[in-house]
Amino acid sequence: PANVGIHALEFYFPSKYVEQTELEQFDGVSAGKYTIGLGQTQMAVCDDREDVNSIALTVVQNLVEKHNLSFKDIGFLEVGTESIIDKSKSVKTVLMSLFEESGNYDVEGIDTKNACYGGTASVFHAVDWVESSSWDGRLALVVAADIASYAEGPARPTGGAGAVAILIGPNAPLVFDQGVRSTHMNHLWDFYKPELASEYPTVDGHFSNTCYIRSVDACYSLYTKKYSKRYSANPEQLIKSQDLDHVVFHAPNCKLVQKAYGRMAYNDMLQDPENEAYASVKEYATLAHSEESYYDKNLERAMMQFTKSEYQKKVLPSLYAATNVGNMYTASVWASFSSLLSSTADEDIINKRIGVFSYGSGSAASFFSLKVVSSTQKFRDALDIKSRLEKRVKVTPEVFAGLLKLREETAMLKDYNPIGDVSTMVKGTYYLQRIDEKFRRTYLRA
Ligand code: ACO
Repeated sequence: PANVGIHALEFYFPSKYVEQTELEQFDGVSAGKYTIGLGQTQMAVCDDREDVNSIALTVVQNLVEKHNLSFKDIGFLEVGTESIIDKSKSVKTVLMSLFEESGNYDVEGIDTKNACYGGTASVFHAVDWVESSSWDGRLALVVAADIASYAEGPARPTGGAGAVAILIGPNAPLVFDQGVRSTHMNHLWDFYKPELASEYPTVDGHFSNTCYIRSVDACYSLYTKKYSKRYSANPEQLIKSQDLDHVVFHAPNCKLVQKAYGRMAYNDMLQDPENEAYASVKEYATLAHSEESYYDKNLERAMMQFTKSEYQKKVLPSLYAATNVGNMYTASVWASFSSLLSSTADEDIINKRIGVFSYGSGSAASFFSLKVVSSTQKFRDALDIKSRLEKRVKVTPEVFAGLLKLREETAMLKDYNPIGDVSTMVKGTYYLQRIDEKFRRTYLRA
């Protein structure tokens, strides 16, 4: 099949949020640390009514309803997540409850786990299935879903929660570029979850930021070579970051994304340091990819300044969800992708190319791209992110801390009836009704 790509997107986020300015005061840090220093505006929070199953159920059911799909039309379903509430039973099997009425049990795919990257891996699997000899003519669906929360401390303002459903098939308006996926994976201890009884990760925050930037270097430079070899008239002339019309990133915090975009331009400059265009930053060429280059604040600032106007045009529109919801782990990069499509008019997106950088700790990262070949009006209509975000309910930092405490205390319980308030939930949201004496979870829909 030709033009395999994305036909539809659905994005779910919780109905409650905390204001980052208020959290700065509550945490006793200097004003601006979370909002300017990390680029975060608001952060979504869940109580004990939501888990990875419920947010995945919500996003799939909403996608199917909004786009008038039949569950029979889906032949592949895979979930990328790092929110593990069961060591054996996959989220995918829970989602099969939605398929029951249709009688469709012939659905390939299962869960893929890795910090922040499982969703992207699942998207690759879905594309591969459609392009393979196993394809049976039906659509593939991917769900990236996570509840991201941190123990008290410097990482806490970088939590969040969200789920994205991505419908994949041939002849799509957004087509994956073939032969350009570029990956960098290695063994690192920057962020991991060894405490199985806790939702919180063990994280070495500053180290993880550096790991992320190193992966940008590795994946992006590989991508420029693969892309140029495959699509350029002159393969020696590598594609540059400014040749991409939009770039979408995994967003642990929005400041890191701005640094990453600057780092892409730094990689471009290293290919061509004598070019007049780089006169203002050429002095950093001597650092190349040295260890020092990852810690040089002057280099970081200079590249952010150098790319500032391009960043505002090509990256910022994709960060609306990330700045107002927070990190969503596997869903983050796909929420950024959804944000871009929700806010960009046809004249600014048709025939444009979107670069995507996905990073997961531990680590697994890829850079790839898509071309927009026809109208994305149906994405704007269905996603409508800005106005949906504005309808959320604000909670105080005290309430926010209380909700995380409630999740901590109830995470491992059985024979438990959740107590969270369901009245603020948006219509159509699934929530946890009960965990029975055998740990079996049941859900209702608001
Ligand atoms: N006004 C403006 N800026 C400020 C202020 C202020 N009042 N105070 C601090 N800042 C700036 C700092 O200068 C710094 O900016 P810089 O990085 O550009 O130099 C930024 O705010 C953050 O301040 P730090 O002191 O570095 O923050 P801290 O060490 O407390 O925590 C961190 C930041 C490490 C990102 C933490 O939030 C964390 O661990 N997050 C989770 C890890 C993470 O997301 N890693 C990324 C990849 S892995 C993943 O996706 C999970």
